[in-house]
Amino acid sequence: MLTRIILLTALAACAIALPTSNRLRLRAGGPAIKPIPSTCNVTNALPITDCDSTFLPGPSTNDAVLYYAYYDSLSTNTTSLAEQCLQQCYGFGDSTQCKAAFWAENMVVPAGYYGSPGGNLETACLMFNRTLTSADFVVAPEGQATSPYAGNIEC
Ligand SMILES: *[C@@H]1O[C@H](CO)[C@@H](O)[C@H](O)[C@H]1NC(C)=O
Ligand SMILES: *[C@@H]1O[C@H](CO)[C@@H](O)[C@H](O)[C@H]1NC(C)=O
Ligand SMILES: *[C@@H]1O[C@H](CO)[C@@H](O)[C@H](O)[C@H]1NC(C)=O
Repeated sequence: MLTRIILLTALAACAIALPTSNRLRLRAGGPAIKPIPSTCNVTNALPITDCDSTFLPGPSTNDAVLYYAYYDSLSTNTTSLAEQCLQQCYGFGDSTQCKAAFWAENMVVPAGYYGSPGGNLETACLMFNRTLTSADFVVAPEGQATSPYAGNIEC
């Protein structure tokens, strides 16, 4: 419960701090999908765990968020959608700005997202201007942040 409150507060703070242009939905024209060259290394950033918990980026990542999008996924291919998120991270700006992407289903939409009250669960793609470590993640409330993917891009 505490985690949830902290997270909601954190996401709400992001929604206020980020410029409007960073809050476009993927389908409304997010960063271009750009294939990641094989000269770059993509590494998993999620904590390795034996338990059933899923993880989502915690408060330590608040000031590293470059872009985020929440949407109803039309595809059930989570691998493909997570890959698209990572490739959009690479396609952000001049391809050196976005260092990590997090993708998951059932993420709480922050209040104020497109003028909505938020609070509902949607698929999310979050992009960061630095690589993430397992220490950047917090345990997600049950049923949230399902099928998570987090990748660091190092070129
Ligand atoms: C990421 O963005 C934040 C907020 O704009 C900035 O304070 C921080 O220095 C940036 N970090 C990197 C590694 O560029
Ligand atoms: C899902 O997407 C991945 C990556 O694009 C692809 O390799 C895989 O074949 C797809 N799986 C299905 C069941 O379509
Ligand atoms: C990618 O990983 C390989 C093997 O660990 C390493 O030799 C190489 O320097 C890395 N490349 C980049 C761009 O980080």
